[in-house]
Amino acid sequence: MSRRRRVYEGKAKILYEGPEPGTLIQHFKDDATAFNAQKKDTIDGKGVLNNRISEYIFTRLNEIGIPTHFIRSLNMREQLVREVEIIPVEVVVRNIAAGSICKRMGLEEGTPLPRSIIEFFYKKDELNDPMISEEHITAFGWATPQEIDDMMALTLRINDYLTGLFYGVGIKLVDFKVEFGRLFEGDQMRILLADEISPDNCRLWDVETNKKLDKDRFRQDLGGMVDAYQEVARRLGILFENDPDNRPGPTLVKSD
Ligand code: TMP
Repeated sequence: MSRRRRVYEGKAKILYEGPEPGTLIQHFKDDATAFNAQKKDTIDGKGVLNNRISEYIFTRLNEIGIPTHFIRSLNMREQLVREVEIIPVEVVVRNIAAGSICKRMGLEEGTPLPRSIIEFFYKKDELNDPMISEEHITAFGWATPQEIDDMMALTLRINDYLTGLFYGVGIKLVDFKVEFGRLFEGDQMRILLADEISPDNCRLWDVETNKKLDKDRFRQDLGGMVDAYQEVARRLGILFENDPDNRPGPTLVKSD
């Protein structure tokens, strides 16, 4: 591969300089981490699946008018995206209690929430991404009140759309995390959905059995992480291109 300038390396992805100004290449690694990288492993095939699933979801979201950084897929592990200034706030939306909200609020996993709840976390590994309020975001200047409103409105639209999309393939969207970035065009600025949406940053449960089809399989040592991600891709109807066992058979080319 040609030498490209690495702009940023995170736990699951690398960003390289893109072919044109204002673009980046987002590369999905096979690395899996949890609990702020205290738990680490390499899961063969995870990057390819997350690239495919995130590409599919961002494409659908673009189609319904959610502005995103996604431009196009480049190969099995990489996509071309717009370079944005990432807002250092992780926006989580929850429909069913799971993960950290259970500990914080003393809820049993699986309890439906009275309505979808948005939470904010400060994106700062050194501090373990602490939970924050709108007050912290505006006081420390991480985003303006208008930007917070925009992020919340977009997140709720994404939640409504994805809840339906996943429900249609027998999956409950329990919760997910998104990140946004600022795109500057002349003297205009707008907010775009950035990062990725994949089973790494969603909780996805089978509608019938509540089987976990997401990164909790890794966090909780349940095993079968790639199988679960493949199952998500298969149900979304996007697996066959990457699955050697599932490719359409060879086509007979007639010579006469
Ligand atoms: P939590 O229950 O651990 O707060 O996670 C809520 C959602 O956010 C869940 O779908 C997993 C996702 N998430 C990330 O994408 N990155 C993170 O660093 C954390 C802690 C959670």
